[in-house]
Amino acid sequence: MGIQRVGICGSGTMGSGIMQVAAVTGHDVVLRSRTTVAAKSTLVRLEQTLEKQVHKGRMTPIERDGALDRITVTSDLDGLADCDLVIESILEDLAAKKGLFMDLEEACKPGAILATNTSTLPVVELAMVTKRPSHVVGIHFFNPAPLMALVEVVRPVTASDETVKAALDFAAACGKQPVEVKDQAGFVVNALLFPYLNSAIKLADAQVASVEGIDAAMKGGCGFPMGPFELLDLVGLDTSLAILQALYDEFGEPHMAPAPRLRRMVAAGHLGRKTGQGFYSY
Ligand code: 3HC
Repeated sequence: MGIQRVGICGSGTMGSGIMQVAAVTGHDVVLRSRTTVAAKSTLVRLEQTLEKQVHKGRMTPIERDGALDRITVTSDLDGLADCDLVIESILEDLAAKKGLFMDLEEACKPGAILATNTSTLPVVELAMVTKRPSHVVGIHFFNPAPLMALVEVVRPVTASDETVKAALDFAAACGKQPVEVKDQAGFVVNALLFPYLNSAIKLADAQVASVEGIDAAMKGGCGFPMGPFELLDLVGLDTSLAILQALYDEFGEPHMAPAPRLRRMVAAGHLGRKTGQGFYSY
């Protein structure tokens, strides 16, 4: 079950990063966004990113042109009809994702694999709204997708071995290190990472140190590339809140209950880098 043509639904941070990874590694990519304007502006940003890569000698102009030529954009789900694999990367909302999977079931060819890039939501619930639950899997990239080595391949109880293998092979063909994980909230990375990020907010609120101080402590003391607040701002506070809420809903452990400050910041529209304001200003 070789995967050559990949559809991506959603042109946000993760969708555009996955588009870059898949196209640069030789896959044909169809980017589907709700509007062609959004999809086209994602493509313009990719052109700029790849131009910088050429400038730094990391990519030849021929490789850049090849990657860009392999991408088409559409606002129409029927544009995904020929894809061997479609990766959903829309907002972290189970109802919205279920609606999209129902539509993908109709739009995609029989045998195509439908994948979700969800951070925490139950993949099996998406599988069960389709008529092909054995062909539904999680393919979870990390932010920023072009730079992070890991892809978690999430196996819901409904997935066939062939589907999981195809997803593992696709991740490897994207130059990533795949790790197979069980379909439970947070999988591996977010189940360990987000209670830590949440604790950092509670530590700042307890005035143990400032936001800047905690970031400096974790970078200098643990060798982490980013402090917890820099990372929260990178991931997005809305996504972070959704992940913590899903962890808390599933496990009910007090340290997973989202810090009140996180909820208030999201309500205020302070979502991190993407809105210019989070724990830091950008
Ligand atoms: N494509 C290709 N290369 C790119 C790029 C892109 N889109 N964007 C940046 N780069 C290149 C830059 O050009 C730069 O190259 P240079 O060194 O030659 O100039 C290089 O990548 C590094 O970029 P920066 O100098 O801006 O950044 P850093 O060296 O500080 O590293 C980082 C950035 C990789 C993000 C690092 O800080 C890091 O690893 N942070 C932790 C990120 C992390 O933990 N992510 C996981 C979050 S959790 C998650 O995603 C789960 C989800 O479900 C929420």
